[in-house]
Amino acid sequence: MQAILLVGGQGTRLRPLTLTTPKPMLPVAGVPFVTHQLARLAAAGFDHVVLATSYRAEVFAAHFGAGQNLGLRLSYVTEAEPLGTGGAIRNAAAALHPGDELVVVQNGDVLSGHDLAAQVARHRATGAVATLHLVTVEDPRAYGCVPTDEAGRVLAFHEKMPEPVSDQINAGCYVLDRAVIDAIPAGAVVSVERETFPSLLAAGAVVTGVVDDSYWLDVGTPAAYVQASVDIVTGVVESPAYTGVPVDPSAVVDPSASVVGGTALGAGVVVGAGAVVAASVVQRGVRIGAGAVVTRSAIGAGAVVGDGRVVTDAAIADSATV
Ligand code: GTP
Repeated sequence: MQAILLVGGQGTRLRPLTLTTPKPMLPVAGVPFVTHQLARLAAAGFDHVVLATSYRAEVFAAHFGAGQNLGLRLSYVTEAEPLGTGGAIRNAAAALHPGDELVVVQNGDVLSGHDLAAQVARHRATGAVATLHLVTVEDPRAYGCVPTDEAGRVLAFHEKMPEPVSDQINAGCYVLDRAVIDAIPAGAVVSVERETFPSLLAAGAVVTGVVDDSYWLDVGTPAAYVQASVDIVTGVVESPAYTGVPVDPSAVVDPSASVVGGTALGAGVVVGAGAVVAASVVQRGVRIGAGAVVTRSAIGAGAVVGDGRVVTDAAIADSATV
């Protein structure tokens, strides 16, 4: 099986962290976020993954190479200009080896424990041209919603609305017939969510939704990004990519400091006397001063948190001093 991972977005909601590092490469529980997705794909039996890159494309291949450490073959396809989700899928498909009728496509910013094999099996069983993972959320107003009938057939794709007709939302993982991808115009900016899927419905094609309410988190915002790392470290969700060691061995934590609540510390981090670091992601080379209190925050590489400073629910830029 082959998959395409969409990793080319600008990650604007995660600025300033994404000014230097693309969202899928931000550290989560000690490894770049997308490592968790790649490890899950490898565990599910995928052998080839194409990374559809655009923003800061070069960092992906520099880190993952040909994929040998993950037991996968990785290819990289870069858009000269970002083509949106649909355009990126079409562009990346050029690197798939031909012959597979099905392709799995995932957004590169979703941490999910859902049963991918079941989603693929459902696609095969229903004869749909596209099978989408859907999740139910308490407040769907912030998302486009995707109502289905009793048989799971998608009825519509609605944009955000004040009174959503369903609490089901698109979870960013699709099984697509290769023909669906080949029908996307080459070289054009296309949104798979807003253009490709609605036009399939308009043409009378069968699009199926699979509701799976296992762990799911879209790491689009600083709070969700920090939560993803905490959830892996504290075991709320399992990842085959997590080493089980949230504090890099080269970090130096004063014996009187507390590092708690699922915090992950990167290489070379120094935590001073009496400091408390709770439920946070601290990237490599950060210095946290004596008596500082850092809670539910993401601290960018090389940043300095001064003695006694209190940082709560914050996203601090690389090399910043607070
Ligand atoms: P925001 O700017 O904060 O909305 O984040 P984003 O840029 O990641 O956008 P969004 O969350 O809507 O993207 C969903 C997924 O598609 C992410 O994994 C993105 O990396 C990816 N993505 C979005 N646009 C493009 C694109 O033009 N090209 C490629 N290759 N990937 C994209």
